[in-house]
Amino acid sequence: MSITIDHGGRVALVTGAGAGIGREVARWLARAGAAVAVNDVRAANAAEVVAEIEAEGGRAIAVVADCRDDAAVDRMVSTTVRQLGGLDIAVNNIGMIPRGRSPQPFVSYRGDDWRDIVDQNLVLAALCGRAEAEVMADAGGGVILFVTSGETTRPSPYNSIYAAAKAAVNHLVTSMAVELGPNGIRVNAMAPGTTLTETVAAAFTPERVEQIVQSTPLRRGVEHDELARLATFLTSDLARCITGQFILADAGAFLSRSRPANDEGLTTDLKGANAR
Ligand SMILES: NC(=O)c1ccc[n+]([C@@H]2O[C@H](COP(=O)([O-])OP(=O)(O)OC[C@H]3O[C@@H](n4cnc5c(N)ncnc54)[C@H](O)[C@@H]3O)[C@@H](O)[C@H]2O)c1
Repeated sequence: MSITIDHGGRVALVTGAGAGIGREVARWLARAGAAVAVNDVRAANAAEVVAEIEAEGGRAIAVVADCRDDAAVDRMVSTTVRQLGGLDIAVNNIGMIPRGRSPQPFVSYRGDDWRDIVDQNLVLAALCGRAEAEVMADAGGGVILFVTSGETTRPSPYNSIYAAAKAAVNHLVTSMAVELGPNGIRVNAMAPGTTLTETVAAAFTPERVEQIVQSTPLRRGVEHDELARLATFLTSDLARCITGQFILADAGAFLSRSRPANDEGLTTDLKGANAR
């Protein structure tokens, strides 16, 4: 006997699917049979992923939208429903790794930093979840999966806003699961460890990435397709009793002490902290 995951006849929406983890999630959901709406703010990237899915025999459309905007999010969801016939699965993958601002001491952050990073990691996720839940509730059910971060489970020195915003999404999942469960909607989060996407490669030196992965019990990072497989499972009927959870996929990084802060020996100089 073999076990397969069958998303045939389902419609999935993946946000930020033009690159990185979201792209691989979109491809795997399509391989499992779902018709996939590929969202990204970068039109060319979304179109490329649609072409990749179609080349493998799958069905996909590009839905270009900047998910920081309420109206754009509503249009993204209504376009998906109109063009693909419904919305059964939503993977809210977008998150901002604060490129160029990490490592950054907590005391040096200002209001604009907080607003920007919380906006892109917490508010944006909530906007998407709200629009998706409304449609799913009307249709009698669905599955919402957020992509958060392993950084939510332990101190994240010099990366404090991002980790706090992602941890808030892990908690949001519990409230949404309780509110939406009676409507047949499951809500979970998947929390990746370090995955060598283009964004991570641009934000960290190879030495820094190596330092991070060597601090995990498995002495490795996480591959894009490993997260895509997990997302395919969590959104499937095989996981139908799982809701309100965040599932770590981090090579055991959670078990390590707080991850090495940086490779530059940065310490916080409180006296000089205001000089940015
Ligand atoms: N890569 C890692 O090591 C890692 C670790 C933990 C958590 N995560 C989380 O996983 C998720 C995906 O990370 P990634 O490394 O694949 O990211 P990425 O930067 O490679 O891809 C993100 C995609 O989202 C799109 N996007 C960004 N803002 C958008 C917006 N406002 N509207 C529409 N599209 C937008 C980008 O154009 C890009 O194609 C994020 O939530 C990130 O925080 C990543």
